[in-house]
Amino acid sequence: MSPLLPLRLLLPPLLLLASASGSAELTPPPGADAPWPDQYHAVIITNLTDIGGRLRQIDIYYDWPRGRALNIVRDQLMSAAAPPLVNVQWSNGTNFIFDAASCDTIQFPVGVLPPDWKTASAAAYLGRRRLDGFDCHVWSNFIFARYYEDVATGYPVAWDGVNGVQHVLSFEVGGVMQDCSMWQAPAYCFDGGSSAGDPASA
Ligand SMILES: *[C@@H]1O[C@H](CO)[C@@H](O)[C@H](O)[C@H]1NC(C)=O
Ligand SMILES: *[C@@H]1O[C@H](CO)[C@@H](O)[C@H](O)[C@H]1NC(C)=O
Repeated sequence: MSPLLPLRLLLPPLLLLASASGSAELTPPPGADAPWPDQYHAVIITNLTDIGGRLRQIDIYYDWPRGRALNIVRDQLMSAAAPPLVNVQWSNGTNFIFDAASCDTIQFPVGVLPPDWKTASAAAYLGRRRLDGFDCHVWSNFIFARYYEDVATGYPVAWDGVNGVQHVLSFEVGGVMQDCSMWQAPAYCFDGGSSAGDPASA
């Protein structure tokens, strides 16, 4: 099994959960179904110690106009010099997940989640709940078992996937990753998956 494989399990917005809601669907109050901004930068923290991981920080750059999203993943006390894990997600469903040594290319049946996903038929409004000290609207869809959005600001507070709750530490509307090289999957994503260039050793 690839060492990168667990990474794909925690990356929105592409993960497909087998069952989405399981709770009674309510009618959302006016404004609760407002779309995401077309572009944002969010910093996420999640705790993977229960499944053998560490505390993990993920920088997400969501860029709907360009049909892509970027996840830059760093584990707690990882060397500042070490290159992070990177996941580039494209709207055609292709994901490149790579670090300095290897690359996994994964094809999902759907691409990047659209900003107006709350109004899609697959989304369910589940009411209000307090999480992380915020009064939240709660949603679910085929990606999020639970998605919590601050009633006061409309910012996401957290979401819940197979690897537990991912907490949103910061949410910057319009935040864009300008460095083009960050979006470029390395050559070894296209010729065997290993930076050593030999598929047999990947
Ligand atoms: C992370 O999870 C572990 C195991 O449940 C727990 O002991 C630890 O306190 C958690 N850390 C944080 C920062 O929540
Ligand atoms: C999806 O788009 C990306 C970026 O343009 C490209 O590298 C990839 O090959 C495409 N995947 C498919 C299956 O066409």
